[in-house]
Amino acid sequence: MKILSVVGTRPNYMKIAPLIEEFEKHKVEQVLVHTGQHYDKKMSKLFFEDLQLPKPDINLGVGSGSYEEQTIKIKKNLKKILTREKPNLVVVVGDVNSTVAAAEVAHELGIKVAHVEAGLRSFDRTMPEEVNRIRTDEISDFLFTTEKSGNENLVKEGVSKEKVHFVGNVMIDTLLKHKEKSDSSNILEKLNLEKSSYCSLTLHRPSNVDNKEDFENILSILEKIQEKIKVIFPIHPRTKKNLEKFGFDDKLKTMENLIITGPLGYLDFLCLMTNSKFMLTDSGGIQEETTVLGVPCITLRKNTERPVTVEQGTNLLVSVNKNKVVEKAFEIINNKINVANKIPELWDGKAAERIVNVLLS
Ligand code: UD1
Repeated sequence: MKILSVVGTRPNYMKIAPLIEEFEKHKVEQVLVHTGQHYDKKMSKLFFEDLQLPKPDINLGVGSGSYEEQTIKIKKNLKKILTREKPNLVVVVGDVNSTVAAAEVAHELGIKVAHVEAGLRSFDRTMPEEVNRIRTDEISDFLFTTEKSGNENLVKEGVSKEKVHFVGNVMIDTLLKHKEKSDSSNILEKLNLEKSSYCSLTLHRPSNVDNKEDFENILSILEKIQEKIKVIFPIHPRTKKNLEKFGFDDKLKTMENLIITGPLGYLDFLCLMTNSKFMLTDSGGIQEETTVLGVPCITLRKNTERPVTVEQGTNLLVSVNKNKVVEKAFEIINNKINVANKIPELWDGKAAERIVNVLLS
């Protein structure tokens, strides 16, 4: 058995890490390919170090670009690698451009594809990730889901039940494995923070940061919130670029309680998140991580592809309506809200073990 795994962006690394470890236990021959979609040290190498991931065997070096530019380059370069390496299976994770491009080229070459984190649906096709998810699932041979909604969505789309396996959440495998280590991070001292005395923010969805008015609306929300609590904002490169493009620097300077840092490594960010009074985010993964950590999460989106985090976890799907977000944040700050907190089924640190059992059986 020879397995070729593909990663491309920051959220992919924590999903692949436990699988690589598990394949290694079973002495499976492995090749790790990085597409190079994310290339900054802080968006890539730092995570390989924190997660003790092996250095990728191959980096396709595709870099930034439009969906077409990225996928065409990935497919062209990966085709050569797959033809040379001849793996029995290609493993892809998540929903980024690298995921779908790698799945497509493997499928075209007749190589079986396993999609980890299959079946999630926001039912919003304006999100590039939603289109990537649907396409990847359509052509995958093994579909591993993190929550039951994923199984239901896939069956409704006509995927045969035999291909779908509810296994839990590999990203939570990684979180549970690194939680203790992250507790010794010195990020709170570095930023001069007391536990629970601040909230943290991540923001990078095109729908929130690519358009001036939408981004301005978010800034007006932050302006209000930082009057009551410190807001720590490890900024994504896309968001930073747009802040500069839209000339928002001066506005930011007036917000004394908004602290901007560069992107943080995995362990520092996990520590920051664990000790936050609450999170403000438009990320997918953070909705899941906060659910496991028991930290309230205000999601700055209209929808979520991860409904279990709302039904059972700490996720408050609030949208980007200024009044609603500010009201919810103030409720949390004033301890007027108790968020539900049940750990979703099979989010127990053993998802990778289940996946590898299926693949090797
Ligand atoms: C991608 C994923 C998104 C995921 C996110 C996590 C897609 C469609 N989107 O979004 O689902 O949640 O990663 O971060 O695949 N840039 C850098 N350095 C880097 C990487 C990016 O400066 O290392 C800048 C570039 O200006 C680039 C922009 O960020 O144009 C956006 O990068 P891109 O690869 O398009 O996707 P993300 O916005 O990071």
